[in-house]
Amino acid sequence: MSARGPALTERGRTLEERGPGPVRVTLSVNGVEHALEIEPRVSLLDALREHLHLTGAKKGCDQGTCGACTVWVDGARVLACLTLAMTCEGREVTTIEGLAEGGELHDMQRAFIAEDAFQCGYCTPGQIMSAVALLKEGHAADDDGIKEGMSGNICRCAAYPHIRAAIRAVRDQA
Ligand code: FES
Ligand code: FES
Repeated sequence: MSARGPALTERGRTLEERGPGPVRVTLSVNGVEHALEIEPRVSLLDALREHLHLTGAKKGCDQGTCGACTVWVDGARVLACLTLAMTCEGREVTTIEGLAEGGELHDMQRAFIAEDAFQCGYCTPGQIMSAVALLKEGHAADDDGIKEGMSGNICRCAAYPHIRAAIRAVRDQA
């Protein structure tokens, strides 16, 4: 620090506020590797949306309360807004863009359409990523389990009965 105060960066922040600067990270997303140069504080959600332009995962609250940003890391659902991108190096990230296979929608995507399980659709990518994970976790045997397992995914349009119907439909197909 000089006698006139701390040195400022180009955006008027102190070096301490700016942090240690960009780091190189390779993220594998939907089976494709991407080399990124990002600041360590960048969330997985911002890396996906702002750097890789995968905008399926939505930013609802950016503080872990709405579930709109739900993606999978190594097959387990996570809140991308609370996950640092750099901690995902060497792991497989799956987003809603990676759910369809060979141009065919996933059963859960089809069920959401058939059951009319959305209105504005903003929460829908997160709901679908959570719903598929919930079935894999084996906690969707009854409506109480579905409600509990989906409680981290908020729907401002209150499409909950239809979302549960879609989950039941896929569960009962299996
Ligand atoms: S944006 Fe991540 S939980 Fe709301
Ligand atoms: S469909 Fe609008 S927030 Fe869920």
